[in-house]
Amino acid sequence: MTEQDVRKGLVGVVADVTAISKVNPETNSLLYRGYPVQELAATQPVDAVAHLLWHGELPTDEQLAEQRRRARLQRALPPELREAIDRMPLDAHPMDEVRTAVSVLGALDTAGAASVLDAVGTPERNRERSLRLFAVLPAIVAYGQRRRRGLGLIEPRDDLDDAANFLWMTFGDEPHPVVAEAFNRSLILYAEHSFNASTFTGRVIASTLSDLYSAVVGAIGALKGPLHGGANEAVMHVFDEIGDAAGVEAWLDRALADKRKIMGFGHRVYKRGDSRVPTMKAALDTLVAHYERPDVAELYDTLERAFTQRKGIYPNLDYPSGPAYNLMGFDTVTFTPLFVAARVIGWTAHIMEQYAANALIRPLSAYDGPDERHVDGYVADEAEVEAAERPEEAAG
Ligand SMILES: CC(C)(COP(=O)(O)OP(=O)(O)OC[C@H]1O[C@@H](n2cnc3c(N)ncnc32)[C@H](O)[C@@H]1OP(=O)(O)O)[C@@H](O)C(=O)NCCC(=O)NCCS
Repeated sequence: MTEQDVRKGLVGVVADVTAISKVNPETNSLLYRGYPVQELAATQPVDAVAHLLWHGELPTDEQLAEQRRRARLQRALPPELREAIDRMPLDAHPMDEVRTAVSVLGALDTAGAASVLDAVGTPERNRERSLRLFAVLPAIVAYGQRRRRGLGLIEPRDDLDDAANFLWMTFGDEPHPVVAEAFNRSLILYAEHSFNASTFTGRVIASTLSDLYSAVVGAIGALKGPLHGGANEAVMHVFDEIGDAAGVEAWLDRALADKRKIMGFGHRVYKRGDSRVPTMKAALDTLVAHYERPDVAELYDTLERAFTQRKGIYPNLDYPSGPAYNLMGFDTVTFTPLFVAARVIGWTAHIMEQYAANALIRPLSAYDGPDERHVDGYVADEAEVEAAERPEEAAG
């Protein structure tokens, strides 16, 4: 294998086909099962989009009602899970808390536990597991933030839709419609994005015929990194560091001189702007007006203008969602867990797609370590000598 064959970071590699979403950087568009994400964000509740991503079609009224009935039964934290969360240190990163919570849910779901050969289970069971994770993750994230603030658990409310209930369980107030609407949009925009690093991680784990929970746990680990989902948290640290719009130029001079990556800007696929940003920025604008915080919009616009002018690199979805979540009242460390609660829809859709047409994902590597050498005094036995003469069979 030559140097040229190595695609570092798998840049430009088409790893498989998917019918779940299509990212087109040329036209700056993102389609979920064919629908532009902007149209879905403007018209649908997040659970209808979940149905679309899992089943391929938007739900009928009856299908949505039935999905809601089943989801409402699973919105509360199971007692064993609550106990496990309460045992975690308060200064654990919330992403570690969420990752561990999903792992606990996997251990509590004992169907298929008898043997690794039963780990995958039926498509029907995996649809149930996907709905279960979607339904309960808001309780995990909301309780996490409340616990860190020294507050108690708030039980879910059946009369509230997913976005409003999530805010209710976090803050204990029925949210203003402007806030619930902006939050619903963000969940839809975050729900799916083709073969990004965390989704690909989930598909790699699923491709070994491991179970859906394990694949989601791995995906959460990948999302935590600041080059991926962790960027929405990192954006808020940047805003806090800069302070206000007047501080942007001096801060940027220093950051670029120090060769820092500016969080919330740049994208592996979109090089001319992230298709989701205008929709989320519009939602941020409604929040800025609602909370009467023009200073946030001013800092946002000034940093965006200054950075894109200097580097020609555009904001990604994490740039508007960071300050939006801040205005809603979420703690900065809770931002990436919010991303988990939304992206679990896409992850589980991909994991099920992987199971349905599986091939073990196992790429090759080019070796650039030391040439073959031997331990002093070692004498190979006959079987090893024979195996070494059949190198194609020895490859693992
Ligand atoms: C997302 C990201 C990892 C994409 O990376 P990529 O496709 O591998 O692109 P690269 O990191 O190779 O960047 C290409 C060039 O643009 C620069 N660049 C890209 N994003 C940058 C950013 N946010 N700040 C400063 N420079 C950036 C790189 O330094 C590199 O410059 P060079 O060619 O002079 O070395 C990258 O843009 C990034 O780190 N962004 C910040 C984190 C972030 O917001 N992540 C959320 C993604 S949705």
